[in-house]
Amino acid sequence: MNVLVVGSGGREHAICWKLTQSKKLGKLYCAPGNPGIGSVAQCVDIRVENIPALINFALENDIGLTVIGPEIPLSMGIVDEFEKAGLKVFGPSREAALLESSKSFAKEFMRRFAIPTAAYEIFYGREEALEYLKNKKFPVVIKADGLAAGKGVIIPKDLSEARIALEEIMVNRVFGSAGSKVVIEDFLEGEEASYLVFVDGSDIIPMVSAQDHKRVFDNDQGPNTGGMGAYSPAPVLNKSLENDTINKIILPVIAGMAQLGKKFKGVLYAGLMLTKDGPKVVEFNCRFGDPETQVILPRLKSDLLEILIACADGKASSVTAQWDERPAVCVVMASGGYPGKYENGKQINGLEEAGSTKDTVVFHAGTASNNGEVVSSGGRVLGVTALGANMRAAVDNAYSAVSKISFEGAQYRKDIAKRAFNR
Ligand code: AMP
Ligand code: GLY
Repeated sequence: MNVLVVGSGGREHAICWKLTQSKKLGKLYCAPGNPGIGSVAQCVDIRVENIPALINFALENDIGLTVIGPEIPLSMGIVDEFEKAGLKVFGPSREAALLESSKSFAKEFMRRFAIPTAAYEIFYGREEALEYLKNKKFPVVIKADGLAAGKGVIIPKDLSEARIALEEIMVNRVFGSAGSKVVIEDFLEGEEASYLVFVDGSDIIPMVSAQDHKRVFDNDQGPNTGGMGAYSPAPVLNKSLENDTINKIILPVIAGMAQLGKKFKGVLYAGLMLTKDGPKVVEFNCRFGDPETQVILPRLKSDLLEILIACADGKASSVTAQWDERPAVCVVMASGGYPGKYENGKQINGLEEAGSTKDTVVFHAGTASNNGEVVSSGGRVLGVTALGANMRAAVDNAYSAVSKISFEGAQYRKDIAKRAFNR
């Protein structure tokens, strides 16, 4: 079967890399892809928002399955359009993707179906939001309603910081129309973990747990980013918490969405806070996480393509997923200055040497080709990933590969997976 993957980041590189291990795979294409993806798939120069061109490509190239990586095309309804054209596609419809694309939808949904999450209110104007905050205990969490690349969440310490945040989101619209509404919710204490499942509309195939590192600097300092590294499993999510997550969160979400006529197919990603009262939902994503995918898929022993087809066909119960016991660690190498301003076009050295070690893969996130050289082209540049006999070995293997790679201004966290050792 010919497959088209839509996207161009580390997540899509990991998806393509894993798909090439499938016996069922014919030709693999990725739109638009990147130079790393180009080593395992044929890159096609179509942007992820150009849905009509992607459909034409799929029709003309006998694509049996299209896999959507990023949230933007999902929120635009790419899955609905592909299905209308008679094409098989892995991902949620526009209505199902509201779980990610509208925080207010997700919160109201959770309230209605009694899914554990922080208490909240929704506001359409700055003044009413400020009025509400006058009687609130800080910290609180302010979230722009729409998609904001992981940056739309602000945790002000006091009213004056909250005033500035609301001004930025609702008046200056730093996240664009995502800021026309805000959700203000209670601050949850605990450790975070990501739990992802494949969904076929009603049944699930669970993945192994993972943990992301959202802050840019070591010890969780500095501003939030798209994710500076990840590890899997997240030991904090023990078997009993995992069962709670499935029974109190994942399955009720899927049943609730079906009840609303918004059947969820694709990857459901629950961002969890493990509080003293059990797991609570911090956010939903309606797609593979980035960089969680870079540590989850290297642990998948089963055929990813079979799983994705089964879910797209509503037959998840016909397949199972086997997982490698060995942990995986991904260290993101980012451009100097990220998540603020940074420069592109820095030549990257040592990629081949770093990637040639056993059980190590260097996933490309923001890279481009320039006269045959691979150069940086984005905030997050590479996701250097390794398996190991235990978490310590996986960490050592990943950092050993990182030490072989260099580009001007490169920054990365030195403490990925450190929290896994605190237990
Ligand atoms: P989100 O984009 O909703 O995942 O939020 C980004 C980050 O903000 C999360 O990964 C958490 O670290 C933090 N966060 C979001 N909501 C809460 C909350 N209710 N309590 C504490 N931290 C939160
Ligand atoms: N790692 C968080 C995300 O994919 O949004």
